[in-house]
Amino acid sequence: MPAPAARRDAWVVGDMTAVEAAKQIAGRNAAEYVVDGMRVGLGTGSTVHHTIVALGERRPDIVCTATSLRTHELATSLGLTVVSPDEVGHLDIAIDGADEVDPALNLTKGGGAAHTREKIVAAMADRFIVVVDASKLVEHLGPFGIPLEVLDFAPAVVAASVQRLGATSVTTRPDRSDNGNLVMDAQFGDIADPVDLAARLSAVPGLVEHGIFTGDMVERVVVAHSDGTVTERTH
Ligand code: 5RP
Repeated sequence: MPAPAARRDAWVVGDMTAVEAAKQIAGRNAAEYVVDGMRVGLGTGSTVHHTIVALGERRPDIVCTATSLRTHELATSLGLTVVSPDEVGHLDIAIDGADEVDPALNLTKGGGAAHTREKIVAAMADRFIVVVDASKLVEHLGPFGIPLEVLDFAPAVVAASVQRLGATSVTTRPDRSDNGNLVMDAQFGDIADPVDLAARLSAVPGLVEHGIFTGDMVERVVVAHSDGTVTERTH
């Protein structure tokens, strides 16, 4: 299988920053997990972008589903077959980025406001593989904030409920999600128990989805470092 520890990759050219280069290395590395015959969930963001480009170059015999309109557009423009989640039903593998990864493989996602679709697609997959550059590794989730997709019916009521769970601030982004909903960011500081907070957020009426992906969803995290090496985190 791909991604041996500390592999040096040769794709990085030109004047990319170390972080951009690491995103490319992680993204391309994870594409090697995809083989002919698979049903594949494609995540959203600048790291998994490179996975999708690599798949577009190699064109394995796969069927994909996309976690956002922009991923759908990218994948189809590269000649990949993309169908709806309902059409594909179940996935062999899903690959996506993350905004934070803790040692238990709990994730913060939703920097690109796609976390609702991303969580559905990750949950459809036998294997969920996460691709990050090393700057995403944290001891505790929290500094990035927790993205929230919120129904535009009682957003202030939802925000107040989230504050009662310990958020010190809840702000609304100017743009909506692909689903037409509001997107908010809640600050909790360092989160001691992300699994517990995830369950509590899931119970807030009107909160469509939050950006905590618990570690039990994740098979492995492919991490690219600024020196070009790749390591993996598993349970
Ligand atoms: C989008 C996401 C992305 O996966 C996350 O924001 C990471 O993005 P990037 O790879 O661009 O840093 O959750 O909703």
